[in-house]
Amino acid sequence: MFVFIHRAVLASILAGGLAATPALAQTSKGDRELGQYLSSECVTCHQLSGKQSEGVPAIVGWPEDQFVAVMRAYKNRERENAVMRTIAGRLSQSDIEALAAYFGSLPKPAAP
Ligand code: HEC
Repeated sequence: MFVFIHRAVLASILAGGLAATPALAQTSKGDRELGQYLSSECVTCHQLSGKQSEGVPAIVGWPEDQFVAVMRAYKNRERENAVMRTIAGRLSQSDIEALAAYFGSLPKPAAP
C-alpha cells in the first residue's frame, strides 16, 4: 500500500520536473530516475553489477527496445516464467520504458 501511494507521489513530482525540461534534453523514451526507483524490486534478484547469479540472468546494458520487448513478452504471457509474468504484469508501459532506460544505462561487467 505504502509503496503505491509513494510511487504515485513520486511520479507526479517527476512529471512536474520533466515538464520544465526541454524535450530535446531527453535521449530515451523512459524516465531513468523513475526506473532507478522501480529497480529496487528487481535487484533483490537481478545483480546491479550485471553478473549472473543463481540462475537469474543479467539485465544491465541492454538496448532499451530489447528490454521493453522482453518485459512485454512476460506481461503478455508470451514468455514463460511465473515470477517475471507477475512482476511485469504489474508494470505499465511507461514503468517498463523507465526500467529499460535505467538498466540500459548501467555498464556491463568486463568480460572475464
Ligand atoms: C524473484 C526474483 C526476480 C525479481 C524480483 C525480478 N526478476 Fe527478472 N528474472 C528472474 C528470473 C529467475 C529470470 C529468468 C526467467 C526465465 O528464464 O525466463 C528473470 C528474467 C528477466 C529478464 C529476461 C532476461 C533474459 O536474459 O532473458 C528481464 C529483462 C528481467 N527479468 C527484468 C526484471 C525487472 C525489470 C525486474 C523488476 C521490475 C525483475 N526482473 C524482477 C527473477 C526475478
